[in-house]
Amino acid sequence: MEKKLKKIALLTSGGDAPGMNACIRAVVRTGLYHGLQMIGIYRGYQGMIEGDFEEMSSRSVSNIIHRGGTILKSARSKEFRTEEGMKRAWQYLKAERIDGLITIGGDGTFRGANEFSKKYEIPVIGIPGTIDNDMFGTDYTIGYDTAINTVIESVDKIRDTAHSHDRLFFIEVMGRDAGLIAIRTGIAVGAEAILVPESKTDIETLIEDLELGWMRKKSSSIVIVAEGEEAGGAFEIAKMVGERMKDRYDIRVTVLGHIQRGGQPTCMDRVRASRLGVAAVEALRAGKSNVMIGIQNGQIAHVPLEQSVKHHSTFDSNLLRIAKLLSY
Ligand code: F6P
Repeated sequence: MEKKLKKIALLTSGGDAPGMNACIRAVVRTGLYHGLQMIGIYRGYQGMIEGDFEEMSSRSVSNIIHRGGTILKSARSKEFRTEEGMKRAWQYLKAERIDGLITIGGDGTFRGANEFSKKYEIPVIGIPGTIDNDMFGTDYTIGYDTAINTVIESVDKIRDTAHSHDRLFFIEVMGRDAGLIAIRTGIAVGAEAILVPESKTDIETLIEDLELGWMRKKSSSIVIVAEGEEAGGAFEIAKMVGERMKDRYDIRVTVLGHIQRGGQPTCMDRVRASRLGVAAVEALRAGKSNVMIGIQNGQIAHVPLEQSVKHHSTFDSNLLRIAKLLSY
């Protein structure tokens, strides 16, 4: 049975991700199509605490489907984690007569959403948006596809110069807790090694592999390092390897950083973000609450927020094996 909703609000929170704008557009237009009033909240939960709201029309989301970032802006609000902060946010929602909330973000965003929804009994739907792709219950998060394409474009360029100068490059990619950007891009660029937080880095093995590559006449090499890798990031690892392989390779380090978070979303990101946005409004209209809208095996899935914040995304360690085999 459909619940009678009148006014829903949406926000983006945590690290921004390309495709968030396509999702905002989908949420706003689906809501308006169904006769709902749509409210945009600026700067995530921080804007909710400060009442930074704006009514959105179909035209407020014109010309944004191709833009990176988020027109609603984003923040990581410490205040929202406090009881006082949540209470203030609730007072603004109540004063505005908002009867449903859609949050686009990562696991920190959903943790806040879940707690808030239970405390104040307002239906909340989460849409996974983070370049890290590290959410449980969905094969895909908004921004991942664009980010990995940005990475491979950048690394391809680095490969040109690495080859000209016979250099070994350590390239650090984002992923604070997960190596999903690293593993996929590492395979796509033909990296000699990929270091991720999900697998313990053995410096001796890495040096051995690079040594073997050198003996097989590899004159340049690429090592992809996930930022959350426990041995300490690209600079640290390059230093350890450099001390032992001085006479083999001239070493350089590149940290790709926030370039991975911006730019025009890919076709995949725009389409998936649009599907998730539509499904989120439909879920609210169907009376659902405290669920994340995910995509599993190509199909829309409803995953309890409780579960999506409790479990970790899965890491296919077979990909590491494939990467190693192909760097022969
Ligand atoms: O959560 C996405 C992410 O890009 C991580 O990969 C990275 O560790 C973090 O955000 C960086 O956050 P900030 O933009 O706050 O420095």
